Amino acid sequence: MIICKSLEEVEWMRQSALLVSKTLTEVASIIKPGINTLHLDKVIAEFIRDHKATPSFLNYHGYPFNSCISVNDVVVHGFPDKNELKEGDVISVDVGVILNKWHGDHAYTFAIGNPGKEIIQLIKVTKESLYKGIEQAIVGNRVGDISFAIQNHTETKFGYGVVRELVGHGLGKDLHEDPQVPNYGKRGCGSQLKNGMVLAIEPMINLGTRSVFTEKDGWIVRTKDKKTSVHFEHDVCVRKNKADILSDYSIIEAAEKANSNLFSDY
Ligand code: MF3
Ligand code: CO
Repeated sequence: MIICKSLEEVEWMRQSALLVSKTLTEVASIIKPGINTLHLDKVIAEFIRDHKATPSFLNYHGYPFNSCISVNDVVVHGFPDKNELKEGDVISVDVGVILNKWHGDHAYTFAIGNPGKEIIQLIKVTKESLYKGIEQAIVGNRVGDISFAIQNHTETKFGYGVVRELVGHGLGKDLHEDPQVPNYGKRGCGSQLKNGMVLAIEPMINLGTRSVFTEKDGWIVRTKDKKTSVHFEHDVCVRKNKADILSDYSIIEAAEKANSNLFSDY
């Protein structure tokens, strides 16, 4: 069942999404070589709790950390750990909060130093594909229009691998609501998009093939070919002519540019 949100509910959800954006902005301002991702996870939890919210991933189906931090060949659900980040690493940071009973859930990928031309393009194109998907999140379209737009921009145009095993989703009082939003699909197929639906759209795109596997811990997803994977996620509300993006990359991007340890020349 797909739950449409009222105008007032969408404003609550905007606050939740923006708290995630602010948390990711905090991460963008401190990330540097030598720092470990367990430290980032602690900063994330503290920032969320300081803002009267709860990290929603912690204990979700037994997930053991506050955030998912996925480095290089880790696609998603990376466990924060004590390994030091280094020049050339590509780090997806995925954060979820519950604020006033409403979920925010979004992600951003950072690069430390210069990860090289190929990976720079992968990051740029994955972010672009998210916006191509969002353009389709309007009343009268179907989920497949979003999926097609993402696949077309990444797999068809650039030959990247679109991960099939994990998908975007509805968002609200639950972290994962209907509908599922795959990053591959056919135009005109899937559920109809209605005014007030809130979706977490999240392309997971591999430099190499789309094949992935899950580690024995049941969570960490990696590319089979060990090549880099990139993940961006926005929370958006379906509207008539233009989707309303509830999360905000502009503050994250400003912090990314101000941090000389991060690549930002996309
Ligand atoms: N953004 C991811 C998702 O929407 C994060 C979930 S991780 C979990 O599925 F730990 F909460 F499972
Ligand atoms: Co999500």
